[in-house]
Amino acid sequence: MSKKRIAVYPGSFDPIHNGHLDIIGRCRSVFDEVVVAVLGNEEKQPVFSVSERMAMITHELRECEDCRVESFSGLLADFMDQVGARTIIRGLRAVSDFEYEFQMALMNRRLNPRIETVFMVPKEEYIYLSSRLVKEVFFLGGDLTGLVPENVLRELGDRATGRV
Ligand code: PNS
Repeated sequence: MSKKRIAVYPGSFDPIHNGHLDIIGRCRSVFDEVVVAVLGNEEKQPVFSVSERMAMITHELRECEDCRVESFSGLLADFMDQVGARTIIRGLRAVSDFEYEFQMALMNRRLNPRIETVFMVPKEEYIYLSSRLVKEVFFLGGDLTGLVPENVLRELGDRATGRV
């Protein structure tokens, strides 16, 4: 029996947006299983806690039997071994992403030579999208229709009105 091809899609996902979901969809068409790995020990102050981010992603992937949402802390290269995966997926949006992504790919491969990083390009309409811009536009009252899932918009709204 052939071995399962597992892809790990790591990130901060604070919060998940439609560009991320587009990449996850592309992963699903190439890999047998997709592990969405939410970084737990960030230096930057997130809007959503790790469990809130995981809950939002889990909600969006509720119909995906081959998707798992996990959190990780420490080195991604070590987490890859813990889940038995060799492929890291990263979305590439623009040339400006390249340098950082290139450094990470090489460092991860140095730390764990079994790892390959595969870059995927999202749909054109999401090419400029980032979680940082999503938060900025939302909290300044801009329209995010079509850029984030409905549930994420609601969660952002709850955050803005202090309901949570
Ligand atoms: O969504 P982001 O913030 O661009 O994701 C960055 C992430 C989580 C992929 C990166 O910061 C990471 O892998 N952090 C874990 C710590 C680690 O392994 N650092 C060395 C990377 S070469």
